[in-house]
Amino acid sequence: MNKVTVQSPSNIAFIKYWGYIDDELYIPHNNNISMTLSNCLTITTVERIKDGEDSIEVKFENSHFVPLDRNTIKGKKAYEQIDRIRNLAGSNDKVKIKSSNNFPADAGIASSASGFSALTAALVLAFDLKDTFADKKELSKLVRLSGSASAARSVYDGFVELNAGKNHEDSYAVQIVKKDHWDLVDLVVIVSQNKKTTSTSEGHQRTNENPYFQTRLTEMQNRINFVREAIQNKDLEKLGKYNEQDTISMHAVTMTSEPPIFYWDPETLTVMKEIMRLREKNNVLAYFTIDAGPNVHVICEKKDAITIQNKLEQMKEVQRIIYNEAGEGLKIINNHLF
Ligand code: PMV
Repeated sequence: MNKVTVQSPSNIAFIKYWGYIDDELYIPHNNNISMTLSNCLTITTVERIKDGEDSIEVKFENSHFVPLDRNTIKGKKAYEQIDRIRNLAGSNDKVKIKSSNNFPADAGIASSASGFSALTAALVLAFDLKDTFADKKELSKLVRLSGSASAARSVYDGFVELNAGKNHEDSYAVQIVKKDHWDLVDLVVIVSQNKKTTSTSEGHQRTNENPYFQTRLTEMQNRINFVREAIQNKDLEKLGKYNEQDTISMHAVTMTSEPPIFYWDPETLTVMKEIMRLREKNNVLAYFTIDAGPNVHVICEKKDAITIQNKLEQMKEVQRIIYNEAGEGLKIINNHLF
């Protein structure tokens, strides 16, 4: 295929990874579990060309296409992924790439997950590595090598676990259950569109020296099993309890790293407290989770989502809400970006 376009989703982690055992192969310290999102998407077109140089242009919500700077962390990783897949295919061809996101980037909505999974899958197809595309386990390993392990989970629809493993061969994503298994909703509550000042990549590198990180790794082992069981049994109280614990534990590690990282803004905490208040005072089943950014993901069941959304939209801290159900994994689409 000379020109191919892939659409790939972001995902929200219920058990988060933070830190790598191997920061060249991007092997996380712990298994991590997520739901694939239906409405936070990246579309990427890759065209193989005989002449010229590799080029990548990116476009984030409501802006224009701009060249991806090779000197940024994301730029370096993206261009390395081109070389990796070109070498795998034994090709000398160059590529022209355009990539477009329908949600804010670098704000804790896992734009790396959708971006790097879309990029990898489109490159794999453009370089005719059809067997790799068809084998989701192999594809997830290759996506992981892009430098965003969370992106490996976006290969599948529904609810997904990244088996951390110890080496490249046993570090891959698997599906826990398909998207239709559970009418779960993630209301992404936007309280800030500012880009984070410390990247996720830098944050991962600050974990190994942190004494609290070992405690997190020890106490999370049971939690991983509880969250997987909660998904299988559609038990929101159990999922929410352990997901919130995991969120606070991960952010305790970021806040105690050297130098510390505070991904939360004051508005983040206000929304978290409102969710706890709704649960305690109004018996509303809703839980918060937060990735590496200030925005809050509110997890609830579809039957309660509109009521919760209406309540949250009344808060002055809330700019807008992106509604997501459990979504499809990455897929080929026909609408090329150029
Ligand atoms: O895969 P990365 O480098 O974008 O890091 C993801 C980190 C978290 O979103 C905070 C946790 C996770 O497992 O998704």
